[in-house]
Amino acid sequence: MTDDIRPKSSPRYDPHMPPGSFRAYVAVTRGDHPTRGVTTMSSDELPSDGVLIEVHWSSVNYKDGLASTPSGRVARISPLVVGVDLAGRVVDSGVDGLPAGTKVLAHGYDLGVSRHGGFAEYARVPAEWIVPVPAGLSLRDTMVIGTAGYTAALSVMALEERGLTPGDGPVLVTGATGGVGSTAVGILAGRGYEVVASTGKKDKEAYLRGLGAKDVMDRTLLSEDGSKPLESTAWVAAVDCVGGTTLANVLSRIEYGGAVAASGLTGGVDLPSTVMPFVLRAVTLIGIDSVQTPIEARRAVWQRLASDLKPMSLDTMGVDIGLDDLTGVLDDILQGSVTGRSVVDVRR
Ligand SMILES: NC(=O)c1ccc[n+]([C@@H]2O[C@H](COP(=O)([O-])OP(=O)(O)OC[C@H]3O[C@@H](n4cnc5c(N)ncnc54)[C@H](OP(=O)(O)O)[C@@H]3O)[C@@H](O)[C@H]2O)c1
Repeated sequence: MTDDIRPKSSPRYDPHMPPGSFRAYVAVTRGDHPTRGVTTMSSDELPSDGVLIEVHWSSVNYKDGLASTPSGRVARISPLVVGVDLAGRVVDSGVDGLPAGTKVLAHGYDLGVSRHGGFAEYARVPAEWIVPVPAGLSLRDTMVIGTAGYTAALSVMALEERGLTPGDGPVLVTGATGGVGSTAVGILAGRGYEVVASTGKKDKEAYLRGLGAKDVMDRTLLSEDGSKPLESTAWVAAVDCVGGTTLANVLSRIEYGGAVAASGLTGGVDLPSTVMPFVLRAVTLIGIDSVQTPIEARRAVWQRLASDLKPMSLDTMGVDIGLDDLTGVLDDILQGSVTGRSVVDVRR
């Protein structure tokens, strides 16, 4: 595979016809010569089943970083069009309710893992994975939100289903400048919560306050070993996408009856905690999975993301990039150095 072997000036395709060939960001993760980059695919390399979508926007999630390298152990096919998120227009579906031109999005399930994903000008996606774009969101908006924002929404919903309301007290968000973290800050702030943002990026305090955080704290206070099983309480609830020692330290500081929605592992997969927060403070640890949500529930969450769960300051979270920028951004996200959401303008 070569980087970008198609001339940039190559013609676009009739949007109502299947493409002959198109640009895609592909990772080869098996064999002696793993590689990744922009290349040209032909339409017969797409899956033979599913709805053909002209992809306009995608976005970069931590999982995409993992899927783009052999050591990430996420890719289940090789070569793989990376990208767990996509948004675009239906080209041709033959499916009731999804006529040509319908604005749609898809994420999770097998996309970008064992089925070609969103970092390409076209994709074929099973109809039962597709979410029509709700009124109130542009195609780009849906990808500023993407898997990360959807996960943040699930986290906030889970905390509220357990009784959390604005006014109960401060809510912590860890990994706050990242995708899940930024959107969680924006969703919580938009709903009137007092948000405390934990970050390792000292220069991003203004960004986090702009998203609606009331306080910003240094994440090293949460990532150090040696906390007691129960520390002085500080927050009524938390949205955590970091895991590891950070999650253990968060659990030890949650108020009586509070809860933590845990979705991630950027800080590690171990959980060096004790049962003390659970048995002495009735703290609940809620697991969040965005990948396998049944489609009707997923469509309902997206309706809420377009209305009462819409993150505040959505416009300031997204940075537009093209397919050619992906390698650097995928490396950056694995290093934890990305701020906000990298939104992929697939046709740029
Ligand atoms: N369960 C699910 O369905 C689901 C869905 C989406 C994502 N996730 C997981 O959630 C996590 C975040 O995903 P994302 O796409 O939001 O990634 P991201 O944009 O890279 O955000 C992760 C943030 O975590 C913080 N961080 C990175 N390394 C850290 C470390 N060693 N110790 C402490 N904090 C660290 C950084 O924020 P600061 O610099 O601000 O501290 C970083 O920006 C990943 O583990 C991902 O796999 C899970």
